[in-house]
Amino acid sequence: MKKVGVIGTGYVGLTHGVILAEKGNSVICYDIDPEKISRLQRFDIPIYEPGIKELVKKNCEEKRLEFTSDMDYCISSSDIIFVCVNTPPKRYYEGVFRRADLSFVENVARTIAQTMKSYKVIVSKSTVPVMTGKKIYETISKFNNSLDFDVVSNPEFLREGSAVKDSLNPDRIVIGVMKDSSENLLERPLKIMKELYSNFNAKIVETDLWSAELDKLLSNTYLSLQISFINKAAELCSATGADVSKIAESMKLDKRIGPFAFLRAGIGYGGSCFPKDIENLGTLLNDYHIDPSLFEQVIKINKGQRDGFIKLMECGLWTLKGKSIAVLGLSFKPDTGDMREAPSIDIVRALCDEGAIVRVYDPEALSEAGNHFGNSVSYCKSVEEAVYGADAIALLTEWDEFKTMDLQNVKSLMKEPSHFFDGRNVFDPSFMSGIGFYYYSIGRPYIKPVREVVK
Ligand code: UGA
Repeated sequence: MKKVGVIGTGYVGLTHGVILAEKGNSVICYDIDPEKISRLQRFDIPIYEPGIKELVKKNCEEKRLEFTSDMDYCISSSDIIFVCVNTPPKRYYEGVFRRADLSFVENVARTIAQTMKSYKVIVSKSTVPVMTGKKIYETISKFNNSLDFDVVSNPEFLREGSAVKDSLNPDRIVIGVMKDSSENLLERPLKIMKELYSNFNAKIVETDLWSAELDKLLSNTYLSLQISFINKAAELCSATGADVSKIAESMKLDKRIGPFAFLRAGIGYGGSCFPKDIENLGTLLNDYHIDPSLFEQVIKINKGQRDGFIKLMECGLWTLKGKSIAVLGLSFKPDTGDMREAPSIDIVRALCDEGAIVRVYDPEALSEAGNHFGNSVSYCKSVEEAVYGADAIALLTEWDEFKTMDLQNVKSLMKEPSHFFDGRNVFDPSFMSGIGFYYYSIGRPYIKPVREVVK
């Protein structure tokens, strides 16, 4: 059992803290936001993440997990400190890239330096640009060069929406440590971290600090690249009449590509991770004068998917002005209420700019949606409310609730003709046209609807 402190209780920090408690460690989670801490103390979980609430309650009741607003207490009670604070993109662009804002990481490093009295392993868990671990090391050493500590990079690979499952069963655990003067990995932090993860059934990758940081950035960028690849392929499929979903399924049968490849065409990726990581990588390449154009294209294609979706809607509806559009799904992916960098933000704004009457529904993201759209849209409490009297549906997030909705009923509530724009390729085009929808998806052939009105 290790004494673990977690600084920052967002998606990564909260999930990681809970999982380490569940694995038998004693964990103290700190957050700068006292409101968040008092909610967590009441088991009122500020994020929507399947399975997390039960684990928080269980581990608090079994006294392995606690939440505090006192950072000094968190640091001084722990031997291993995970830094899981935000590293949001800065406001200004360098070309198409923005750097990550590391001021929260720096503040934490300073506080650790001021507070620590005994040896600590300080672990960077936030997604950070390469060299952040070194900067943390230098910041603490500058404050007091007699402090005894090690800095480790242990990047997180969990996905929102399946964070608990991913953290309990990771594909790999990457541990990056600094090297000694003979270029050997430092043994002390490596041993402590391997002990911490000894009861996880996952391959441990032992590496240096910089490789661990880059592993994370490149993994996320590689996945983003796959998404932009398939979206560009979808454009060609639309032009030629080929079917991108069928091609993707066939490609996944190739073992070198694999069944879990990110080859679902749609309105593109969002979230707090992919957009930020590829930009971090881009600024890093610029810093080293390495051509970043491959990654610029990934970003360009991803943004283009949102414009392309609006064009698709104009193609089906002719003009958007005055048309009533039901937007189903606002979060950047299903099973989360997170709308950071979600394609829905640009798409809904474009619909409003075009003069459409927009009614939105999402199972978890409605409260965040208010911050983005104010009173320019109507917020609905159900699919039925959103689609009632609508000319068209724009499906932007593939929640199970939408996959399993009663499409006959949905159609009967809409105006005739009923248009369905599927930004996530959820439904089968022949089935949808069989119901009588004018159904449009991404990179798949358009099939004319059967024009019986099902009422
Ligand atoms: C991603 C990575 O998958 C995690 O391994 C990583 O730990 C995390 O970022 C992070 O850096 O913290 P996440 O952003 O939660 O996780 O979501 P993903 O499931 O990877 O999806 C990202 C976006 O890509 C979503 O908007 C999704 O709709 C889109 N996507 C995904 C596609 O458009 N097509 C696909 O085939 C797959």
